[in-house]
Amino acid sequence: MSTLDAATIKKQFPLLLREINGLPLVYLDSANSSQKPQSVIDSMTTFMEQSYAPINRSAYHLAAAATDAFEGAREKVQRFINARRAHEVVFTKNATEALNLVAYSWGRANLSSGDVVLLTHMEHHANIVPWQMLAQDKGIVLRWVPLTADGQLDLTTLPELLAGAKVFGFTAMSNVMGTITPVQQLCAAAHKAGAIAVVDACQYVPHNVTDVQAWGADFIAFSSHKMCGPSGIGVLWGREELLQAMPPFLGGGNMILDVRLDGFTCAELPAKFEAGTPPITEAVGLGAAIDFLTDLGMANVRQHEIEVASYAMRTLRERFGDDITLHGPTNVEVRGATFSLAFRGIHPHDLSQVLDQRNVCVRAGHHCAKPLMRELGVNATARASFYLYNDTADVDTLADALDSASDIFGS
Ligand code: ALA
Repeated sequence: MSTLDAATIKKQFPLLLREINGLPLVYLDSANSSQKPQSVIDSMTTFMEQSYAPINRSAYHLAAAATDAFEGAREKVQRFINARRAHEVVFTKNATEALNLVAYSWGRANLSSGDVVLLTHMEHHANIVPWQMLAQDKGIVLRWVPLTADGQLDLTTLPELLAGAKVFGFTAMSNVMGTITPVQQLCAAAHKAGAIAVVDACQYVPHNVTDVQAWGADFIAFSSHKMCGPSGIGVLWGREELLQAMPPFLGGGNMILDVRLDGFTCAELPAKFEAGTPPITEAVGLGAAIDFLTDLGMANVRQHEIEVASYAMRTLRERFGDDITLHGPTNVEVRGATFSLAFRGIHPHDLSQVLDQRNVCVRAGHHCAKPLMRELGVNATARASFYLYNDTADVDTLADALDSASDIFGS
């Protein structure tokens, strides 16, 4: 019996109640972007209707109240990830911008030619390309942690790979296979080797209890839109000492203390990294999403996903046997409910189109993780990613839709 009642939760998501061609919607693309509950939609609408104003720049009542709402959202993020201080939470456009900020600002200030950055074969492009750009500019060297056959990190040579490294950047949860990595262990290994730990947490935070202090991380990045909040806002959390010592990323208004013709001085954290008008309404929406998730309880969200993932693996195996490949771990303790699959030789794009005829929404493609696709020996996969509003009935619908794809392609 699940700890969450997904059917009741689903009723709070207006879009999920839509029918298309008389059939209900089965949304299985939450690793890409989640749907939004009514409370998040209402929070943003009410804020825009009644409270919207620019923040930090004006003394009038409305602007002060909007600033309080924006900073209140920051405090909600702080509590949600158990950060020590609210000003360690920097609002960005998304997790991608947050990771670029680290590579650009910390990387350019602290790395030089020949320095080693260790990444993993499991990363998506947002935690690869910024470091490759740095490699082109500064001549840093990239190393890679390989994978085991069941889609976990192969840590047998980690000490050798980390020797001399200055950065260890890794995902907490694979967007392709759902693999959950041992973040605390990896952060400790990074520190033992004298490296900082940069955690791409954009799949992990929406699905699990997150505690940056228990992890011992140095930076983590995640996006609002994957955790029931709006798109257009993400988070970089960093240890205060590191953020203090870093130069700014983008220049402009809000991030300065003073500007003269011969130069500028930076504002205090977190404004130093928040140039220009920030995503104000989106921060309010992210705050409402955090309230929504907190009310459900993140331990319950994780438990629910374990149950859905177990049911999905059992059902798909029983119904399709060797005709289906599910990439990633079979042990639900180290995976979420994100399944990249191959089915009876049907091309992932064809598969997703046929599933779409039954309103089953899955992503087909490389999932912004082309190096990982090469490791898996495929060009693309179809990916079904479940979230707190999905339940075992959605697994059954997916399985039925796969069967219908078989009929159409005669496989
Ligand atoms: N948003 C990308 C995904 O679908 C990274 O996993």
